[in-house]
Amino acid sequence: MKDKFFSIIAHDLKNPIGSFLNLSEVMFRTFDDFSREEMKEFIEALYESSQNLFKLLDNLLTWSRAQTGKIDFNPENFNLYAIVDSNLSLFKLNAENKKIKLTNNLNPGTYVFADINMINTVIRNLVSNSLKFTNEGGEIKAHSKIHGDMLEISVTDTGIGMSEKIKNKLFRIDTHHTSVGTSNEKGTGLGLILCKEFVNRNGGDIRVESEVGKGSTFSFTVPIKHHHED
Ligand SMILES: Nc1ncnc2c1ncn2[C@@H]1O[C@H](COP(=O)(O)OP(=O)(O)O)[C@@H](O)[C@H]1O
Ligand SMILES: [Mg+2]
Repeated sequence: MKDKFFSIIAHDLKNPIGSFLNLSEVMFRTFDDFSREEMKEFIEALYESSQNLFKLLDNLLTWSRAQTGKIDFNPENFNLYAIVDSNLSLFKLNAENKKIKLTNNLNPGTYVFADINMINTVIRNLVSNSLKFTNEGGEIKAHSKIHGDMLEISVTDTGIGMSEKIKNKLFRIDTHHTSVGTSNEKGTGLGLILCKEFVNRNGGDIRVESEVGKGSTFSFTVPIKHHHED
């Protein structure tokens, strides 16, 4: 895992830092050749590139902290409906801008036993992806189903979907795949890897069903109740 982490850092940070370096060098050397307006565009490109770099680094650091057991794990009973609701509210403006309908189809009395921060992060990532890869007029629904002593939570969208080839690259740190969203949103390709890490830590699994042009459903399981050892 350590080797993988360093090869990813080397590969992923080299390109964006390289272009950041080039752009800032060009700005510095040719400063007097450009108008204020043109310079402003350069600075905007630099700013965007630094935001992406920051996001990438932040995700890589979270992933490595999870790998080395440095993230607190405090499972407790909590209302999952409320967590889903607060995450949908978080993206309300975003969804309105893209004219996408968000629905929470969970039962309001749904409780699970898990680390609330990790599950919150998982749901936030899944909803954020659905919004990113769904066109105007689409729909996103959260729903759940009981499977024995586990609850399966799903986020379904009517978005662009993905090919078998892309599906096979998801959840894997060695191949992490990223593509731009329907409004050209950029990513790091690490969101789902973190989701898998957090879901597994709670004793569950994560999977995807998707078809190009038809949409995607990401589903993960979490324990419903705390199991006492007697
Ligand atoms: N709901 C979705 N619909 C279509 N493609 C998706 C969806 N969620 C994830 N993907 C694909 O999986 C890739 C990896 O997702 P993720 O790990 O969250 O990274 P990021 O969002 O930073 O690109 C995305 O770039 C996209 O290609
Ligand atoms: Mg993502």
